[in-house]
Amino acid sequence: MYKKQKLVVLTGAGVSAESGLDTFRDSGGLWGKYDPQVVASIDGWRADKGLLINFYNDLRVGLKDKQPNKAHLLIASLEEKYNVTVITQNVDNLHERAGSTRIIHLHGELTKVRPELGEYDRTYSEKEVIDIGYGTIALGEKAPNGQQLRPHIVWFGEAVPKIEKAIEEVESADILLIVGTSLQVYPAAGLYRYADPHIPIYIIDPKDVSIHDGRIVHIKAVATSGMEEFVQKLEKN
Ligand code: OAD
Repeated sequence: MYKKQKLVVLTGAGVSAESGLDTFRDSGGLWGKYDPQVVASIDGWRADKGLLINFYNDLRVGLKDKQPNKAHLLIASLEEKYNVTVITQNVDNLHERAGSTRIIHLHGELTKVRPELGEYDRTYSEKEVIDIGYGTIALGEKAPNGQQLRPHIVWFGEAVPKIEKAIEEVESADILLIVGTSLQVYPAAGLYRYADPHIPIYIIDPKDVSIHDGRIVHIKAVATSGMEEFVQKLEKN
């Protein structure tokens, strides 16, 4: 019987740039305006919970009016012919809204919150994660377990619980596609190393790529036109 090939797509902020969302490390990016140690680290949370709650409230509210772009839509449409898993570093929900059905959010999700847990506590369980859509939370607002609610975001200094699942997906890929990530943040940046040495790796990014591997085909373009080119390449093969 015909079996669909497995296409694993690793995305970063660049896939959402044409939807009007800031990337992090490009000029004008989020980390040029804000210090990630302040707004995206567990130490930053401990230092000023109210500041982080407001920072992510603003991002969450701002997400409401953003729309998936052609790149998100093309990735979703590839499910017709491929067994597609999206591994995204993005905390937006544009892959979901474009129709992708298998998505691993490595760095959490903006539209969700969960109880904060103490320093030596167990990690959160999926049952504790609450979908608040584009709503806001406040300092003093508690989860059902009595703890302060926090954004469902993986901050610097925290574990990345979904990495094991992501590694399994990359290990079993027939094709790996990487879109719009500077590959600066680990463990996500090292995921491609788990790919079978015989499979092709495509990277869509308008800038030079930071990794060098003979298998890499660099489509030097923004995500929307790069995805069109990638789909054409697949059709030719
Ligand atoms: P970066 O801002 O580090 O990288 C964005 C990449 O997208 C760069 O390689 C750009 O060249 C590329 N790019 C820019 N515009 C593009 C476009 N229109 N189409 C395609 N590519 C484009 O963002 P990430 O690699 O996603 O984590 O950053 C990784 C993590 O660092 C984020 O998930 C976030 C951040 O700290 C946390 O906050 C935990």
